Amino acid sequence: MIKLHSASREETVAIGEKLGKTIKKGDMIAFRGGLGAGKTAFTTGLAAGMGIRSEVCSPTFAIVNEYRGEDMNLYHFDMYRIIGEEGLESTGFFDYDFENNAAVIEWSENITEFLPKNTIWVTIEPVSENERDITIEGGVADAPDGHRYFG
Ligand SMILES: Nc1ncnc2c1ncn2[C@@H]1O[C@H](COP(=O)(O)OP(=O)(O)O)[C@@H](O)[C@H]1O
Ligand SMILES: [Mg+2]
Repeated sequence: MIKLHSASREETVAIGEKLGKTIKKGDMIAFRGGLGAGKTAFTTGLAAGMGIRSEVCSPTFAIVNEYRGEDMNLYHFDMYRIIGEEGLESTGFFDYDFENNAAVIEWSENITEFLPKNTIWVTIEPVSENERDITIEGGVADAPDGHRYFG
């Protein structure tokens, strides 16, 4: 587990970018944190770190945005309005090729039981208007030298 502090949107984007550089095929990143925490900001950096040039925006209405990368795509879900297995199935979630791509999930709280064991958890907690505590669990965050990626 790695605990980080962000004092601006830009810092959150930069932290996302550092994690993005470590993302491999099959990785799934799940956010915990309410409205305006900075999940979409973090995802903007994550995509940039993966070398994706598309503009990242909240898939609130689309439920999922797909960004094309060179050797894998990034699937960006917003599960805000998703309830239960049927709701999740209606998004096509179970048909995505997660093994050969990467995925990031906003409002993962709604689908916790369907997430894989290797999920990378990113928790964003607002401390003030511009400050966030960011906790990353899983993936490089749990590697013995994990802190080096975020130095
Ligand atoms: N340290 C910070 N990290 C991320 N966002 C921040 C921070 N400080 C202020 N903000 C603001 O909070 C909002 C976060 O929005 P967004 O990333 O869309 O959140 P979410 O996707 O969690 O709803 C933006 O308006 C951003 O400018
Ligand atoms: Mg969002």
